[in-house]
Amino acid sequence: MCGIVGYIGDKNAYPILIQGLQRLEYRGYDSAGVAIYNGSLTVHKCKGRVADLERHIADKDISGCIGIGHTRWATHGEPNDRNAHPHTSMNGNFVLVHNGIIENYAELKADLKKNGITFQSDTDTEVLVNLIEYFYQKGEEVNAEIAVRLALSKVVGAYGIAVICKNEKDQIIVARKGSPLVIGIGHGEYFIASDATPIVSYTNSVIYLNDNDVAIITKDSLTLKTVENTPVAFKITKVDMTIGDLEKGDFEHFMLKEIFEQPKTIEDTFRGRISPDRTEIVLGGLMDVFPKLVNARRIIIIGCGTSWHAALVGEYLIEEYARIPVEVEYASEFRYRNPILSAEDVVIAISQSGETADTLAALRMAKENGATILGICNVVGSSIARETDGGVYTHAGVEIGVASTKAFTAQVTVMTLLALKLAKERGKISSEVYLNLIQELSEIPGKVKSILVKHPHIKSVAAKYKDASNALYLGRGCLFPVALEGALKLKEISYMHAEGYAAGEMKHGPIALVDDNLPVVVVAAKDHYYEKIVSNIQEVKARKGNIIAVVTEGDDGLKGMVNDLFEIPKSHPVVTPLLAIIPLQLFSYYIAVMRGCDVDQPRNLAKSVTVE
Ligand code: M6R
Repeated sequence: MCGIVGYIGDKNAYPILIQGLQRLEYRGYDSAGVAIYNGSLTVHKCKGRVADLERHIADKDISGCIGIGHTRWATHGEPNDRNAHPHTSMNGNFVLVHNGIIENYAELKADLKKNGITFQSDTDTEVLVNLIEYFYQKGEEVNAEIAVRLALSKVVGAYGIAVICKNEKDQIIVARKGSPLVIGIGHGEYFIASDATPIVSYTNSVIYLNDNDVAIITKDSLTLKTVENTPVAFKITKVDMTIGDLEKGDFEHFMLKEIFEQPKTIEDTFRGRISPDRTEIVLGGLMDVFPKLVNARRIIIIGCGTSWHAALVGEYLIEEYARIPVEVEYASEFRYRNPILSAEDVVIAISQSGETADTLAALRMAKENGATILGICNVVGSSIARETDGGVYTHAGVEIGVASTKAFTAQVTVMTLLALKLAKERGKISSEVYLNLIQELSEIPGKVKSILVKHPHIKSVAAKYKDASNALYLGRGCLFPVALEGALKLKEISYMHAEGYAAGEMKHGPIALVDDNLPVVVVAAKDHYYEKIVSNIQEVKARKGNIIAVVTEGDDGLKGMVNDLFEIPKSHPVVTPLLAIIPLQLFSYYIAVMRGCDVDQPRNLAKSVTVE
């Protein structure tokens, strides 16, 4: 949440900062701002998007080779000009941008007020910048770096910060705890950002900061240490990302581009993990911990939002095929509910960003309680990926649309690989079934393509339902999480209220909602729940609900029963979730576009939820 950028070198900082903020806008888009040093420190900021900031700055002098910038997702204080970052300390010695939450800000603010410090905004960030200035002015031997470290030692909470001091203007100080920060290494220049996307236009050599790191950066040097002043050796990582990954190309929205990328991203996720002769699944990142997994007393999968839905698919598959007990938990609940854990438990965190605050905290708690912790992440080098004992990257590529699409199918692909690998290793499926299921998985990209070409039909169905106020999504078994995910997609981008339900639960409450205004999306592909879901369709039909069904090609039986249908190719139930979600993603997308919504940046949301 919130994106921060910085530049120090010989180039004009402003274009680099603005392009960086555009790339990071998916992290928050309530307000934006930049601070540039050019003899003095100038701050420009305003409510709204990065484009609003550009308009706001259009007629101003923005030259200067050192600068920091911010795009905000509001936590403390409403989105307005005053609360926008960068924040300046009372006496103007420091400007600071911040991603995270200072939890003890109220207490710190009260102390600072007692010392005569006044505040302009409602933010926790302004407290931090004033605390830095307080230490700076208080001690004779205190330079900017020491002041930053002293202030951070008093802070409870999460931060990724970049700070410029007016009197030590040839440096930017950055620090991280809980919120990601990446430093790009150029020639005589450094780039700072919340993730690597703003940096790859200039360099692919980066340093990922760890919690408690503080970096002092001039255009020619970088010093890394801890908040407590212990030197830290840094590791340079090469980022594998291209500019093309960060652009929409011919697509109107990133979400649409990402939906259409799925044949490739699913393939990228299993390629290299299925042996060339398609006889073996190899999960290299789990090699060291595989015996633990195979013999786990229990697997607990944690995640949030879409990632939690992928975890649910994993639960169905692992229990069904590998016969290991699996529990799926919302990370936000798990971390606070004092769960019973032991060294025989394996906790798997699923997270596209690898930075979700609740998932990371839950994982750390599981580790403290002795469990083996694993990660399924998309962002390479992310916190979860680095803190786990092993894991599997999803290889979906950069996902920029706030609504997860290709990340979800990549996560489900990994869950499928894992379930099959465990099942084989534990002797729960025969070689014949194993080979057949590997074959089924390898055919998925082609089948996804065949659904995508039907987008005009999906669009025409979307046009029929775009004005509805509510929608109900139903599914059973592995397709229940698909119904949940379909409903989440619709509500988050079109603001149409949608509920996902296990179809068998419908008659315990939601059926009361059914009338001739309610679209009911039923995921009714052929599997061993099929007869049951057909009964649910009948129950909705009897109450005049409008049924939109996801069905297996050739299932003519349902044609006369439902109002509209999306056909998906025949497949084994183990891989059907990967197909069934595709028309639902497109359906949501077209409805949102027709309702005039901002598909890629829905209101109130942010891509990476790095605060609680
Ligand atoms: O980065 P993560 O996968 O940990 O994010 C978790 C959720 O915030 C995320 O899946 C969210 O629900 C989706 N962007 C919604 O489409």
